Amino acid sequence: MDSNWSDYVQTSEELYRSRALRFHDENKKNWLNLIRIQDGMSVLEVGCGSGLFAHRVKTYLPHATVTGLDFDLGHIAFAKAKSHELGLDCTFVNGDATAMPFADQTFDLCYSFTVMEHIEPNAFLREQYRVLKTGGTIAVLTVLPGLNLNGENWRPSTGEEQDLFDKAFQAAPDAPVHVRKYPLSASEYAPIMEKNGFTDVNVEVLSIISYAPDNADISDETAIESINVNRLFALNSVEKVLKLNPAALTDSEHIHLNDLINQRFDERIDCYKIGEKLWDIATSNVVAITGSKR
Ligand SMILES: C[S@@+](CC[C@H](N)C(=O)[O-])C[C@H]1O[C@@H](n2cnc3c(N)ncnc32)[C@H](O)[C@@H]1O
Repeated sequence: MDSNWSDYVQTSEELYRSRALRFHDENKKNWLNLIRIQDGMSVLEVGCGSGLFAHRVKTYLPHATVTGLDFDLGHIAFAKAKSHELGLDCTFVNGDATAMPFADQTFDLCYSFTVMEHIEPNAFLREQYRVLKTGGTIAVLTVLPGLNLNGENWRPSTGEEQDLFDKAFQAAPDAPVHVRKYPLSASEYAPIMEKNGFTDVNVEVLSIISYAPDNADISDETAIESINVNRLFALNSVEKVLKLNPAALTDSEHIHLNDLINQRFDERIDCYKIGEKLWDIATSNVVAITGSKR
């Protein structure tokens, strides 16, 4: 176990806030249907990150017994602290998805969101087959690219901001974590599920709008949070790169780069506040592959 994911790939706050926008209440029914969950089930979220999805599940289905497992120490510490803050009775455990610390036949449902592409898929599926009860369900959710209209990130960084970021990025060694080490094509998901013993395999796709601050049915609070989450991604990408090579930028370059990023997102918020619509919209296609252990 280590904190490489939260240190170098996605911080706990970044994951939690971006997932909060994605798993919002209006889509509650769709998400719960996709993972085929029912209240009262004993459920395991594999690769739960900082815990937002598990928290939503427990909030919506209070009689479910919810456990989240993740390799990353930082994410699990964050998820536990948030459970405490929100008064939610979820269990979060550090562990490896390919050798989980649970007995055979423990859970009614194992689900995961954007995890299988990072783990050897046969080992990932076999281990969930082992911990599922007979008659239990697996739901593997992943995301295929969607549509970007007018730039997901308001406007792309250009000029000085991009030059400073490139300077930091080019000087950095590779991060000690391999993201998407096991990418599968969309046509490989269902067969690999069957190969690992699951029956009744089913594939569904949910297209969601993941960012659209100018849409009429989005509240001011959500619109501004969605811009600020993109700001957080941009600021954190600098911090992650500098962790790998702290000397890549001088202190004044680092401060200046952060100022440029903040100016860019402040401008986007100013446009929003004065009602100047830019129609920057992003969508995601969530693919859910479900199966049963018979
Ligand atoms: C893209 S993130 C998704 C996190 C969470 N499902 C979400 O959507 O917020 C992938 C997660 O898989 C976790 N992970 C990667 N390899 C793992 C492994 N072998 N065992 C358990 N978790 C792992 C990472 O620590 C990270 O939290």
